[in-house]
Amino acid sequence: MIQVDLSGAQRFFTQAGPDYAAVSRAHEVLSTGSGLGADFTGWLHLPQHIKDTELDRILAAAETIRGRSKALVVIGIGGSYLGARGAIELLRPVPAEGDPEVLFVGNGLSADALCDTLRKLGNRDFDVNVISKSGTTLEPAISFRIFRELLEKKYGADADSHIFATTDARRGVLKSLADSHGWESFVVPDDVGGRFSVLSAVGLLPMAVAGIDVRRLVDAAIREFEALDMRNNQNPAWQYAAARQNLYSKGYFVEILGCYEPSFRFMAEWWKQLYGESEGKDNKGILPASVEFTADLHSMGQFIQQGPRILMESIVRFRKSRSAYPVPVSDNNADGLDYIAGRDLSEICNVAAEAVREAHIDGGVPNIVISCSERDEEGLAELVAFFELACALSGYMSGVNPFDQPGVEAYKKNMFRMLGKPGAV
Ligand code: PA5
Repeated sequence: MIQVDLSGAQRFFTQAGPDYAAVSRAHEVLSTGSGLGADFTGWLHLPQHIKDTELDRILAAAETIRGRSKALVVIGIGGSYLGARGAIELLRPVPAEGDPEVLFVGNGLSADALCDTLRKLGNRDFDVNVISKSGTTLEPAISFRIFRELLEKKYGADADSHIFATTDARRGVLKSLADSHGWESFVVPDDVGGRFSVLSAVGLLPMAVAGIDVRRLVDAAIREFEALDMRNNQNPAWQYAAARQNLYSKGYFVEILGCYEPSFRFMAEWWKQLYGESEGKDNKGILPASVEFTADLHSMGQFIQQGPRILMESIVRFRKSRSAYPVPVSDNNADGLDYIAGRDLSEICNVAAEAVREAHIDGGVPNIVISCSERDEEGLAELVAFFELACALSGYMSGVNPFDQPGVEAYKKNMFRMLGKPGAV
């Protein structure tokens, strides 16, 4: 299970400290379905639900794709792609020999990015997984039209068999298209919002194609959600939720999530959406930002150390490193590095992390350490369950509905009017 270390935040808390009574109430409201947005709390039981319903079919589809294609093009935006991308980059940053490459499109409107991906895809055999709960989001819809045309040119009458649609069980354009063309379809459950859907087919199909053991992931996630149901202040999700709300009440309005593994970068993007969309409403919310250490210590380090004191810092650490690489021993010490010769890079990284933590706390940045077992399927399950639960608890503590995102519509309304979409005003 995740462990949370609040010792680096202690001196910054209010005198009363984190409000565990409030987080306990939030947990009760969440688990009894009596809070705002209660219709969207299906993610709490999603791993078991998926195991009982679609997991076998997801694995079979992944095998088909892995057996015939060199690439899977995943089309989706926001919650319909960030979790899969985060998981794949964390666990499979370099595709293993023979594994298809997973390419992500439809998460923006850049023609350059699209053309770069098309060049990357080249003439390779590929399948498409189009993911959209609503089925109407413009960015993925445009990309899907483009890739359907490519599939038709490449595979002719067989094009439809290369399309896998993940969408609503009953409604939407994508669902109707899937039904009329006979595309294999997977469901984004009604009671699960996009940003909480990584453990449904939304995340699991791309992950399985990339070679991640999703059965192991799902089993681990079932155990994690069960373990996180504990109702006391030893629950790491309680600790994290209560600590960040306490710090927010003291004026720490920005949370930077950092990690010393560059492969965590897209998990941090997933986390930003999860927390940003869940909490940033009703003129409230902690701004989620992310940093990649140690690289960003040479770009953002100055600001963190000495800029306005509005930052809290949460650092994700993996207790075990996957690899070992000692600093080589040299015979002349011309570069002056002999004092660390023979010491492993991961040991040096741990020392750097301690040094950074001490410096940032001294500089007035509350520090929370979130430690996770390993960069593997169990570790991923720990992170997903922990961050999702803590997010819901933190949102309820601040009095918002953590499961809606009404603000996302504002730009869409303007864009559709400006593009001349029929009926748009
Ligand atoms: O969390 C959410 O609900 C959003 O980020 C959606 O995932 C995103 O807007 C994409 O929506 P859709 O899956 O309907 O295309």
